[in-house]
Amino acid sequence: MGWWLLSFKGQKEKKVMKRMKSQKYTQYPSVAIINRQWPDRSITKAPIWCSVDLRDGNQALPVPMSVEEKVSMFQLLVSIGFKEIEVGFPSASATEFAFVRRLIEGGLIPDDVTIQVLTQAREHLIRRSFEAIAGAKQAIVHLYNSTSTLQRDVVFRKNREEIKAIAIEGTRLVRRLRDESGSKGIRFEYSPESFTGTELDYALEVCHAVMDAWGATAEDKVILNLPSTVEMSQPNIYADRIEWFCSHVNHRDAVLISVHAHNDRGTAVATAELALLAGADRVEGALFGNGERCGNMDVVTIALNLLTQGIDPELDFSDLPRIREVYRRCTRMDIHPRHPYAGELVYTAFSGSHQDAISKGMKARAIDKDGLWAVPYLPIDPEDVGCSYEAIVRINSQSGKGGVAYVLEKDYGIQIPKWMQPDFAEAVQAVADMSGVELSAEQIHELFYTEYVKRQEPVVLKKCHISWDDEDLDRSEAESTLISAIVQLKEREFSFEARGNGPLDAFVKGFVKESGLDFSVDEYAEHAIGRSAGAQAIAYIRIGSADGRVSFGAGIDSNISLASIKAIVSALNRLP
Ligand code: KIV
Ligand code: ZN
Repeated sequence: MGWWLLSFKGQKEKKVMKRMKSQKYTQYPSVAIINRQWPDRSITKAPIWCSVDLRDGNQALPVPMSVEEKVSMFQLLVSIGFKEIEVGFPSASATEFAFVRRLIEGGLIPDDVTIQVLTQAREHLIRRSFEAIAGAKQAIVHLYNSTSTLQRDVVFRKNREEIKAIAIEGTRLVRRLRDESGSKGIRFEYSPESFTGTELDYALEVCHAVMDAWGATAEDKVILNLPSTVEMSQPNIYADRIEWFCSHVNHRDAVLISVHAHNDRGTAVATAELALLAGADRVEGALFGNGERCGNMDVVTIALNLLTQGIDPELDFSDLPRIREVYRRCTRMDIHPRHPYAGELVYTAFSGSHQDAISKGMKARAIDKDGLWAVPYLPIDPEDVGCSYEAIVRINSQSGKGGVAYVLEKDYGIQIPKWMQPDFAEAVQAVADMSGVELSAEQIHELFYTEYVKRQEPVVLKKCHISWDDEDLDRSEAESTLISAIVQLKEREFSFEARGNGPLDAFVKGFVKESGLDFSVDEYAEHAIGRSAGAQAIAYIRIGSADGRVSFGAGIDSNISLASIKAIVSALNRLP
C-alpha cells in the first residue's frame, strides 16, 4: 500500500518511505567448513561454568559494586554453585585489589572454588595481578589482548606479528611468575579479545603461540577463551568458528575451549548453546545477562534451558526470588519483567485462553505429580525456581472465565461451576475494563460477594424455617419438606408456608405462588468451603423466568439448605 499526501493543489503525491542505511553495513564472513558436525549434536551435560559477574558485569555498572556488595555477590555465586568465579581486574582498580585480598585473607573462598583475575598483557599489570592472588589456594590468571583486525589497525596500529608478540610475552611472564610462586593451584586462561572481529586463522595462530609459550599439556591445560566480545553474526556462524577452531587446534587435549558471548544481537544464549554443540567445554557469563552494552550471556537462562531439557545444569537456581533480590541490591540493576525464567511476569497469564489451559494443565498435573512436566504455556514448573503458583493467573480485561474461576478456587476455595463462570467473568471484565488495571484476587473475591452473596434488593429473606414431616432419613415421601418464610419484595412484605421435595423446591413453590413471579431452577451446584467443622457451604443456582429471563445467584451459609435458598434470593435479585 502506498503512502499518499495531498499537495496544495489537491493532487495526490506518493510519500516515499524512508530507507535505513543498510549500505553502511556488510555481511559477516561465513566459515569455509565442510561437513559441519554441530547441527546434528545435542547438549548432554552441563559445561564448566565461570561467572564474570564480579568483573565484566561489575565493570558495566553505572555505580560499580562496593567491596561489601562484591562479597555478597561472591557468596551468592558460591551458593548457586559456581566453581570458577572471575572476581575482578585487580591490577586496574584499588577496590578490586582490596576485594580480592579480602576474599583470600578473610578465608571466604571455599576449597572447591577457583577465583579468576583478569589482566591485560602488560608487565606491571601482570605482576600486580600476582600480588592480588598471593595466598589463594586456586586461581586462574586470565590474560587478554585484542587481536581484531579493526583494533590492530585503528587502536594499536600494530601488525599481526606485533600483536601476537604481546600475547606471547604476557604468557611467558605469567608462566614465570607462576613458577616462581611455587603455587600448584595457578592455572592460565588466554583470550584473543574481539575474537569475533579476528580472522579465524590468525586467532588460531596466536592461540598456538600462547599454548607453546605456556607449554600446555593435558595435565596443565590452557583455557582458550574465544570471546564474542561484540556479537557480530548469527549464532550458527559463531558455532562454525568454534567447530573449525576445535578441529584445527593442536593438542586438543591440552586446551579447554571456553566461550564468552556478549549480547549485541540479542542472541548470546543461542551463541553459547550452539558453541557447546560445536565443542566448547566451558562457558563464561553473568546473572541475568549483566555486562557491557547489551550484556553478557545470561547464565540463568542457559542453565534453566538445560534443566528444561532434562539436563542437570549443576547450578542451583531453585530460589530465584532470593537470587534476584541479592542481584538487584548489589548491582542496582533491574530485571526485565519478561526476562526468561526470572522476570516478575513470566509465570503469569492474563489472556483468558492461556489461563484456561494453564488451569486445566495444573489440574491434570495434580493427578500425575511424578510425571514429566507438561502444563500448557509453562515451559518450567514455577515451583522449581522458587516461584509460587498463586502468581500464575492474574486478572485484567484480557482475562477469561477460566482465569477468574482459577483465582477464586485457588485462593478462596470457591469452585464456580462451569455453567456460571461466563456470568461472573462478565462482571469481572466490566470492572477491569472500567478501571483499566489489573484486579487482585482479593478484589475479585470482593466482587463475587457484591455481585451475588450480598445482594439485598429487591428481595430480602427475612426469616426462613425448614422442617420435615418425619424423621425418615431417606426423605422417601414426596413433598415432605415444609418451609415457612418471611420475604420482603420491594415495599411489600409477605410470608408463606410451602411444601416440596426439598427446601429449594418448597421455597420456589411458595415464593412463586405468593409473589406472582413465575420461575424455575435450571441448574444447581453446591460444595463446602474449607474442611473444618465450622466450614461454610456455598450454593450456586441458575433460574429462568417464565418470560424468558435468565439469572445466576450464589448463597453462603453454614447450613447447606439455607445456602441454597439464599442462592435463589441472590438470583432473583439479579434478574435483569
Ligand atoms: O568480552 C570480552 O572479550 C572480554 C574479555 C576480556 C574476555 O570480556
Ligand atoms: Zn566480556
